[in-house]
Amino acid sequence: MTALLEVHAVTQQFGGVTALAQVNLTVNRGTITGLIGPNGAGKTTLFNVICGVRPPTSGSVRFDGVEVNNAGVHERSAMGISRTFQRLELFWTLTVYENVLVAAELASHPNPAEIARHNLELLGIDHLADATAGELSTGSARLLEVARALATSPKLLLLDEPASGLDERESEQLGELLKQLRDRGITVLVVEHDMTLVMGVCDEVYVLDLGVNIASGKPEHVRTHPDVIRAYLGAQVGES
Ligand SMILES: Nc1ncnc2c1ncn2[C@@H]1O[C@H](COP(=O)(O)OP(=O)(O)O)[C@@H](O)[C@H]1O
Ligand SMILES: [Mg+2]
Repeated sequence: MTALLEVHAVTQQFGGVTALAQVNLTVNRGTITGLIGPNGAGKTTLFNVICGVRPPTSGSVRFDGVEVNNAGVHERSAMGISRTFQRLELFWTLTVYENVLVAAELASHPNPAEIARHNLELLGIDHLADATAGELSTGSARLLEVARALATSPKLLLLDEPASGLDERESEQLGELLKQLRDRGITVLVVEHDMTLVMGVCDEVYVLDLGVNIASGKPEHVRTHPDVIRAYLGAQVGES
């Protein structure tokens, strides 16, 4: 198995806050990797570092065998990194179809209309193509974000809390979809609090707590790790 993404010793400071401290993370090709941890752990910050939103304070990111430290968001997108957002960021006044079409056009696909239709079908929301994004349920809006992220034909798909706002059935369907994407050769890195989803679909799981990677490994290893239970899973069980 070869690495598609390698995050090496990444530290991100915001003033006095250390959001990430010497974080290492490897995502192998053709896998689904989970990134979990309590709120404020640094998960979204790590996504921003991977996408090139801002350079880290120190450390490096390699993607597809290339050091991308100096590449910006658009350059990394063109290389095959695509993401969704924790807080949905759709074009709310455009239609579902147009939201995906814009992304396919930006990626300079020869046939953006076909790509848009294909991805709406793949996500099972083609019947909503003419609806305005603002009219969608949270579940459909989350799926639309994934469809839009896929319209750039990424090698690596970063999903930031894709099951947030979904009911149990929708989360299960999302899990099946992630496995389908993996089977189609798309590598996935997913931040998610839904432990049934994470433990059910991920090949590897990384755990962050206050910017520190406290554990990583197979889901069954992480699930029973005392530090993870103390920092995160204990609280999850307590909440439910
Ligand atoms: N742009 C920013 N400026 C200052 N502090 C930030 C910024 N982004 C994130 N942080 C801080 O970094 C820490 C990690 O946040 P975040 O990555 O959003 O965590 P998570 O996604 O795991 O909930 C938090 O303490 C947060 O307040
Ligand atoms: Mg976050």
